[in-house]
Amino acid sequence: MSKFMIIAHRGASGRWPENTLLAFRQALDAGARWLELDVHLSADGQLVVIHDFTLQRTTDGRGRVENHSLAELRKLDAGMGEKIPLLEEVLELAKDRASVNIELKGAGTGQAVASVLQQRFSLGQQAEEFLASSLNKKELMVLSPLQPEVPLALVSERVDRSFWQAAEELNVWSLNLDKSCIDQALVAEVKAQKRKLLVFTVNDNEQLNQLKAWGVDGVFTDFPERHVGI
Ligand code: G3P
Ligand code: MG
Repeated sequence: MSKFMIIAHRGASGRWPENTLLAFRQALDAGARWLELDVHLSADGQLVVIHDFTLQRTTDGRGRVENHSLAELRKLDAGMGEKIPLLEEVLELAKDRASVNIELKGAGTGQAVASVLQQRFSLGQQAEEFLASSLNKKELMVLSPLQPEVPLALVSERVDRSFWQAAEELNVWSLNLDKSCIDQALVAEVKAQKRKLLVFTVNDNEQLNQLKAWGVDGVFTDFPERHVGI
């Protein structure tokens, strides 16, 4: 079996409302073994699954996620009548079916994700079933000492000196990079560091095959239903 990772980016978000239970269920039903989601904190400290810092693109609400209580956020329509999910709800859905890449977006998510993961471990889940990633090194620095077994990933759209330094400092399991940064030399460099390289967002088969041939370890795709099992 191929170890190449097909990661359902915000669920099966190409056809279904991104970061909703519907999109995650569709990805799981298509056979995805990895889900990716983004988290922010509500005003009352709950971890909610939504990509943007603001509500207007993906829901019928307005303003910043962090300025709304969970009760307020739950009244919103996140597409096709779906609600904004709690992180726990997605983790419960994925349990025994897929691993989950939790991308820490909002401030304070490092500590909050560490507590949610602690609950999952007390229910018998293992650290390897998760990947905690962020563009924001600070949140990973908070999470890492609290949950040292959980693999980490740095997300970036460019690779520069500070990126390599952060990867080293955090001893990340993978580098999750935008496809615009990837060439064969970079793949070789990451392999020499013994880290994984995951690329976002890849919806095109030709591009996926090219990346695979170069030795990339996996891709984030909005259409897991097209790519799972290849
Ligand atoms: O983590 C990979 C990818 O999700 C990063 O970009 O903006 O889709 O969260 P974004
Ligand atoms: Mg993301």
